[in-house]
Amino acid sequence: MEETVALIKPDAVERNLIGKIVERIESNGLEVAAMKLVSLTKKEAEGFYKVHAARPFYGELTEYISSGPIVALVLRGENAITKWRDLMGATNPENAEPGTIRKDFAVNLEKNSVHGSDSPESVSYELPFFFSAMEVVK
Ligand code: CMP
Repeated sequence: MEETVALIKPDAVERNLIGKIVERIESNGLEVAAMKLVSLTKKEAEGFYKVHAARPFYGELTEYISSGPIVALVLRGENAITKWRDLMGATNPENAEPGTIRKDFAVNLEKNSVHGSDSPESVSYELPFFFSAMEVVK
């Protein structure tokens, strides 16, 4: 079993899409092992996305992700990292496959509704960023 970190971003929380997105998680073989609604400060957002610090969109990205509440989740299942990325679809909703979360719900490249860890190394950084060991059910 593998774990991954998912975020439901401000654009999706604002449009009351939490339930619809969690439904896709639960009906596609992934289990919710932890979940919380949080608001990140700009500083915390910069920490979360520090891997993108050199990118030209870092300022906008961290401004956006700290602009309203988000839902952070730990998802567990076989090949959870890949499975969740497949369910999300391409980063830019214009390139996302039909039936994916981003195709169905995302507004644009920035307001793309969801995030998922892209590797086991990212999970190792992102999971303890949001959750203590006690908050992740076994
Ligand atoms: P996410 O999976 O959260 O990882 C980093 C985010 O940066 C990504 O989703 C996009 O929302 C955002 N992003 C990626 N590329 C760009 C870009 N060229 N301009 C603005 N935002 C971007």
